[in-house]
Amino acid sequence: MVKKILLSFKVKIYCFIQWLKEWKFYLNPKFLLFDLSFSFIYLFLNPYRISRKFLEKKFDQKIYDYGETPLLEMEKIVKILNLKKNATILELGSGRGKTSFWLNFFCKYNIIAIEQIPIFVNISNFFIKLFKVKKLKFLCLDMFEYEIKDIDVIYLYGTTLSDDKIQLLINKFKKLPSYVKIITISYALDEYDKSFVCLKSFDISFAWGKTKAYLNMKRG
Ligand SMILES: C[S@@+](CC[C@H](N)C(=O)[O-])C[C@H]1O[C@@H](n2cnc3c(N)ncnc32)[C@H](O)[C@@H]1O
Repeated sequence: MVKKILLSFKVKIYCFIQWLKEWKFYLNPKFLLFDLSFSFIYLFLNPYRISRKFLEKKFDQKIYDYGETPLLEMEKIVKILNLKKNATILELGSGRGKTSFWLNFFCKYNIIAIEQIPIFVNISNFFIKLFKVKKLKFLCLDMFEYEIKDIDVIYLYGTTLSDDKIQLLINKFKKLPSYVKIITISYALDEYDKSFVCLKSFDISFAWGKTKAYLNMKRG
């Protein structure tokens, strides 16, 4: 119990420090307004709790699976990706959707965000309407059932996925054109399948600690 309270406190402090470090994004009035209202709603809906409850119902056990990519880390990823302006990014498991909104607001990419938890998707879709956001869509689907096509990049922050699930995704990724860039967190795809090559790995930090991110592509 004490351990859980300490962890939750640590995450809150981390998020607050991140938020201070992200000040430059709040110079954009539309993003500032979006984030104030978005954060206000989530003052009453704890995403970690929502995720835990959803997984508890689905698997009948306590599973702690939730986490978010800090925006400064997402900015680092975007610089490494070096994409053309009209690129399409697929976020597999988008959570509350804050990273997808950020990508849309600041990078103007087309974003498709897939998330299994309905309340996250409903709230994201409400914000799309409220802020008249274009080129961003949230779909409440199981990522393993989604037919991936017409995309340039996949972002997969799925550190808790089992090896079997990663292999399932890899089988889908293998059918994609070789120009598709796939960012994974904490494992490279070539550790699972030699049809992929890791072009780059770099440090990335989350509320729970530091790890590596990998830029993967299909072997040419
Ligand atoms: C670690 S969170 C990452 C959230 C977001 N991508 C980010 O970086 O801030 C992983 C998310 O993937 C979602 N997820 C896990 N398995 C999924 C599945 N099979 N289909 C759709 N979403 C899934 C979880 O509900 C959770 O919201």
